[in-house]
This record gives sequence, C-alpha cells and structure tokens, in this order.
Amino acid sequence: MDFSEKDSVDAVLASFADTPDPRLHEVMESLVRHLHGFLRDVRPSIAEWEQGIEFLTAIGQKCDEHRQEYILFSDVLGASMLVETMEAERQAQDATASTVLGPFHVVASPERALGDSVDSLGTGEACLIEGSVAAPDGTPVPGARIDVWQADEQGSYDVESGGRQPLGNGRGLFTADDEGRFWFSSIVPSHYPIPTDGPVGALLRATKRHPYRPAHVHFIVEAPGYVPVTTHVFVEGSEYLDSDAVFAVKQSLVRDFATVDDAGAAARHDLPNPFRRARFDVVLQPASS
Ligand code: BEZ
Ligand code: FE
Repeated sequence: MDFSEKDSVDAVLASFADTPDPRLHEVMESLVRHLHGFLRDVRPSIAEWEQGIEFLTAIGQKCDEHRQEYILFSDVLGASMLVETMEAERQAQDATASTVLGPFHVVASPERALGDSVDSLGTGEACLIEGSVAAPDGTPVPGARIDVWQADEQGSYDVESGGRQPLGNGRGLFTADDEGRFWFSSIVPSHYPIPTDGPVGALLRATKRHPYRPAHVHFIVEAPGYVPVTTHVFVEGSEYLDSDAVFAVKQSLVRDFATVDDAGAAARHDLPNPFRRARFDVVLQPASS
C-alpha cells in the first residue's frame, strides 16, 4: 500500500510495533501521532521543512562543553517548566518549589566553607544569603549539600564573561552545619538576557520576544534519603519577574534582598556596611514518601 496522508500514523506506528521497552514504545507512539498531527496542521513546504531541520542542526552545532543550546530551546518553549511542573506534581506539595536548571550548570561549583563568598571580584552590591535545610516536619537536615550559581551585577555567568570572571566565580558548593543551616556571601545578581547569539536568539528576534530573566540565584539542594530540589531564589523587585523569557518564576521563590545597616553583622561576615540580606529556608521531601 502506498504511503498516504490518511494512513501515515498507522504505517509508522507499525514499524515500531516490536519495541521491547514499553516506555520507549509509548514515547515513540505519542511522538509520531503528535508530529504527524503538527505536519498536517502546518502543511510545511519541503523548503520550510528543510529550514526546520537546519534550525535543529544549528542548535546542535551551537552546543559545546560550556553552551547548551538545546536546553535553551526547551526553556523558551516552556517545555522545561512544563516537565518541572509535572514532576513537582508527583512530589508532595510541602517541599520547596523547583524550577528550571538552565544551561549554565556546566562548571563544577568549587567546594567552599560556610560563610565564604562565591564572588571574588567584589564589583557588585554585597549580600549575605542564609537559610536552612529541613524536612517538612521541621527536622533539620545536617550535611545537606547546597550547590549555588549566579550571574554577577552585570548579568553574566563566569562561562560567558569572556575571561572577566575566573571560572568558578559566582559558584559554590556548601555543606549545611549540624543544624542544617547554611550561609554565604555574594553580590546581588542582576537580571540578564539568555544567550541570543545562537539559533534560539534568532527565534526570539523573529517572534519579537525579549530574552530577559529576572535576577536570581540558582540552587540544587540534596541530601541522602531526600528528593533533591533544583530551584532559584528570585530577587524581589527585579525587572522581568512578570515576563521571564523561560517562564520559571514561582512566587514562593521570590525573596526580599533587604538592605541591612548593622556594623556588627557586617564585620562578622566580612561585608561592607550596609549590605543586602536574603533568607532561603529549603524543605526537602523524604525520598520514600
Ligand atoms: C539560567 O537561569 O541560567 C537560564 C535558564 C534558562 C535559560 C537560560 C538561562
Ligand atoms: Fe540563571
């Protein structure tokens, strides 16, 4: 029988009929149904289809050890946040909300002691970030690992700063103390544009979308026996909190980076006075529940 528009799905699904892994079978079946539905909807010309393939090729070609254009593509389509949101619905609701990983977790964060600064340049406004890691019933999680990374006051990550920041700047891996507490200093991050020098940037320009993300600090918090959480703390009052280019803002993650005028506290944390301070208490879900 000739391949036809009416029977295209059935013809291709038959070719996957012997897939031994049931999940792979389910994924391929749904992919074929939706892809063929999309093509019947859009009815691309061959030239347009080739353009689409060139776009996906360019996305792959833009990726290297410090650049992940596919994650960026998933992010601007809201796909990363939809996957995150569906995953969170499977977890109990009292854990800290998760949000996108983003493409900049590409350098291992240097191990740092509690109280260290993640910033070695000191060009921005100094801030102290303190918090705790606990189970939903308030039981502290001593020894939890807190991996943080952030852009600087100019809105760049170390890996995209063209050498202005040393690799590892704006990053730190901390271990919570015996009471599950953590604290470190940094600078208040700025809002920033996601990378626009690749095919995803071209797509944003062609569709008149802005590329900005509100100011935030990334966190991955994990501990044995708990479900890890990948999340951000957003800076209250930042531009773009209402129009994040990657749809990742959750109100429960927005924090006041209040100005503190306290010479004693500034001296204890080796910060200038006044300084900014934010608190982020993380709740992890036990893995078995
Ligand atoms: C980030 O926050 O690092 C990020 C997330 C999604 C796309 C680009 C950057
Ligand atoms: Fe970021």
